[in-house]
Amino acid sequence: ARLVVLVSGSGTNLQALLDAVAASPGEAPYEIVAVGADRNGIEGLERAERAGIPTFVCRVKDFATREEWDAALTAATAAHAPDLVVSAGFMKVVGKEFLTRFGGRFINTHPALLPSFPGAHGVRDALAYGAKVTGCTVHFVDDGVDTGPVIAQRAVEVLEEDHTDEGAALHERIKEVERRLLVEVVGRLARDGYRIEGPNRRRVRLGH
Ligand code: GRF
Repeated sequence: ARLVVLVSGSGTNLQALLDAVAASPGEAPYEIVAVGADRNGIEGLERAERAGIPTFVCRVKDFATREEWDAALTAATAAHAPDLVVSAGFMKVVGKEFLTRFGGRFINTHPALLPSFPGAHGVRDALAYGAKVTGCTVHFVDDGVDTGPVIAQRAVEVLEEDHTDEGAALHERIKEVERRLLVEVVGRLARDGYRIEGPNRRRVRLGH
């Protein structure tokens, strides 16, 4: 399967996908054909360049309207003919054109147990709430924010000392679990596909 990965920051989730492909040359059920970002000068893009993977950047401020940005992001992504698009720390909400084009094969990873603590501060919000367990979620992207059908989740304990560093240590512990979950989910989606079942069509089953 051809993957386009979208990043906005350090790209450690991207790196986990790159490492998984490199660790099993010729066997990985997917190849990362391009990495896209909403900003320049981030480590996620450097990781792609080091791996010799084409990159593209679509900055919202370079476009007159949000719709034009969405159209540009859609075109730049579609140019690589992906089978699956992975948002790995991509911090923008895509628009209708992107979802029309890639909905159903566009996944995101989020550092909380959705539907708890959606949005850009999931780790901080879980701590502020006093949650004792949080974790990470890989889900399909729909037209909401972190509201699409859940594919997989893993729990991570919240420790007392997590309240002393604005969640930095907790986020790192979550990211260790998250990257392994993302590699596992991407591999299974690429190899076996999925079905969505259940009364309200939200229950994801991996595999044919
Ligand atoms: C990840 O925890 C992701 O879930 C969240 O931001 C972080 C991105 O980390 N949206 P990285 O850029 O993959 O290192």
